[in-house]
Amino acid sequence: MRVDVVTIFPDYLAPLDLSIVGRARRSGAVDVHVSDLREHTTDRHRTVDDTPAGGGAGMVMRPEPWGASLDAVVASGRDAGAEGLPRLLVPSPAGLPLTQAMAGELAAEDWLVFACGRYEGIDERVLDEAGESGLFSAVTPVSLGDYVLCGGEVAVLAIVEAVVRLLPGVLGNPASIVEESHSAGLLEHPAYTRPATWRGRQVPATLMSGDHARIARWRRDRALERTAQRRPDLLAALPPGALDDADLAALSVAGWSPDRVREGAGEQDL
Ligand code: ADE
Repeated sequence: MRVDVVTIFPDYLAPLDLSIVGRARRSGAVDVHVSDLREHTTDRHRTVDDTPAGGGAGMVMRPEPWGASLDAVVASGRDAGAEGLPRLLVPSPAGLPLTQAMAGELAAEDWLVFACGRYEGIDERVLDEAGESGLFSAVTPVSLGDYVLCGGEVAVLAIVEAVVRLLPGVLGNPASIVEESHSAGLLEHPAYTRPATWRGRQVPATLMSGDHARIARWRRDRALERTAQRRPDLLAALPPGALDDADLAALSVAGWSPDRVREGAGEQDL
């Protein structure tokens, strides 16, 4: 996979050299290129922003450097042998929420281009133009969550990490992807390791029992309880039939009647 990032703070993306993503770059699983939007300004002050049309607070990123940068990124990817059309991702609090399902969808792409906005965002015509230019397969605004960051760079770090760890060969043990939070629509069960007793706290006895069926049931029950408590919306969104009788029994012990599960009503909602 090829990843291009356009930003006014290339240094912000330095962590993409570290840890699993860094190793994936070195192994060739992902090829990351970061470029500076200001390279495509034409004035002495290298201006990238201006006041919002219609008035109001903050600044908006001007379209000209963005148009030139995106054209250049696509051209240089092509020169380097990238085939097909890249998908343009624009981090924004007004975007589609990043989910594990979206990360999986992005991991199937060959080429992603990220446009990092700052201030009040990028002039909307840049996205409209990118969508109609024929340079991109799709243009997708993406949000990390319902809060406002100072710019798209932190979101790019999160999205790239969520996607790259799903690429073939990147994680040592692919089973960890299957069992983790969100892959089955539930939060993951709690995890423990050695020592068996730490500051007087025991690792739950079931996990030490060696009985794999009991351990699997215990983990499933803890995942259900935790999801009910912290993310009742996820429980309510499970497809019909996702919970069997043993699951419903575990939830009912934890105070979750089938009706309450269906409604996804957490403590705070009742
Ligand atoms: N830029 C600013 N806030 C953001 C958010 N919540 N998600 C993605 N990009 C952003």
